[in-house]
Amino acid sequence: MLDQGAGPPVPETPRRPSGTGARLMRRKPVELLVAEGGQGAGGDLRRSLGLWQLTMISIGATLGTGIFVVLGEAVPDAGPAVTVSFLIAGLTALFSALSYAELAGSIPVAGSSYSYAYATLGELVAWVCGWCLLLEYGVSVAAVAVGWGQYIDELLQGTLGVNLPQALSAPPGEGGLFNVPALLVVLLAMVFLLGGAKESARANTVMVVVKILALLLFCAVAAAGIREGNYRPFMPMGMAGVSAAGATLFFSYIGFDAASTAGEEAKNPQRDLPRAILLSLVLVTVLYCLVAAVAVGALPWRKFEGSEAALAGILHSVTGADLWPTLLAFGAVVAIASVVLTVLYGQTRILFAMSRDGLVPAVFSKVHPRSGAPRANTVIVSLFCGALAAAVPLGRLADATSIGTLFAFGLVNIAVIVLRRTRPTMRRSFRVPASPLLPLVGLGLCLWMMFSLDAVTWVVFGAWMAAGTVVYFAYGMRRSRLTTADDSPSKPASTEE
Ligand code: ALA
Repeated sequence: MLDQGAGPPVPETPRRPSGTGARLMRRKPVELLVAEGGQGAGGDLRRSLGLWQLTMISIGATLGTGIFVVLGEAVPDAGPAVTVSFLIAGLTALFSALSYAELAGSIPVAGSSYSYAYATLGELVAWVCGWCLLLEYGVSVAAVAVGWGQYIDELLQGTLGVNLPQALSAPPGEGGLFNVPALLVVLLAMVFLLGGAKESARANTVMVVVKILALLLFCAVAAAGIREGNYRPFMPMGMAGVSAAGATLFFSYIGFDAASTAGEEAKNPQRDLPRAILLSLVLVTVLYCLVAAVAVGALPWRKFEGSEAALAGILHSVTGADLWPTLLAFGAVVAIASVVLTVLYGQTRILFAMSRDGLVPAVFSKVHPRSGAPRANTVIVSLFCGALAAAVPLGRLADATSIGTLFAFGLVNIAVIVLRRTRPTMRRSFRVPASPLLPLVGLGLCLWMMFSLDAVTWVVFGAWMAAGTVVYFAYGMRRSRLTTADDSPSKPASTEE
């Protein structure tokens, strides 16, 4: 499926649209997307990332709060069958990952699924996708940062014997004033990102190694506490519980697509992006299932109810000592920080692409000439996410993040099918096998997961999409570079029907 002989896409002839309907449906040619790759106002992004760093970016963005925190919330729904829930969520992610791999190899730009949708499904759908990515990336940074606070507390307790005061570690509405650790971790990530992609990737690689070691350490130590009886009954809440837990745990797979936001900073994107996406997903799935199987084997499933920092708690109960939970808490603190770093990175690059297309203000595509990083963009996004993490009770945000992500993944599966029909001869460095069957299965699984989420999540999602539609019609549609190109008599139209 990996085609080493990938070359530039075969150009197609753009056609000028007319009327509002046509404007909403206009597509950005793949050639234009690729040709603009790397270019920002004031300077270009730098191509510095190889396969190893790209894989680390995807693992960095994926492995964090989901396994360290959300696992504890999912076990009461699924019981010991939580491993099956992880598999279902992983399978859902895998089908979409195949589609991501095909598109990332064909359209290797910074905007990820937003750009793929722009090339295939038209501007309005692309906007909707970009708006969903704000949930997947921007809002999830905030949710993840909150999970970081729980493990910082565990770490401080284990090392210094102190706990953070509630007022400074929880937002209003959850008994506090301000979540300082959540803000802190976002600002820390911002400092790395201002240094440029290469420096951030280096820091991320170290953090990924630490978090994988921490999870392996958990498995090795907690395995001593496994009791066969803890696996029975295996599915106490039935299949409905398993799929509900799967939908919640989908959060733990969010981020595998992060490498696709680095398309303009990768040295050989056509070859490396598909590999990085698939490799990271397989590694993460294996690790999740292993950790989940050990966790429910070592602690009766009912005892997960209401537990914070669940994995550390299990080590406590298995060993009775403080050392192991403290080491694990350290690993979790590093793990979650790397999710914040890489997801924040992804968000800045998606906004970069949207800004270059004129759908969000130009400040997001200004590149600092020395660091090659979009600095103003990075500061704005970090302050927004930091404020959200510090001041908003984020209990529900994980689910809101998942529904937005599932929607974007669904669009990516559709985009593969559409691009195969509209551009059958385009060179692809990776092809989803048995298309359109597998992308359709991917789409079906995304829909199934979405419908497994509760009504409140759907209401939040509906409100989010309504707000996005208003912003598009009030700003994006008029400012789109395709509009300004169409309206300008001197420039050729760069749209297709
Ligand atoms: N998948 C990421 C995490 O679990 C969002 O932290």
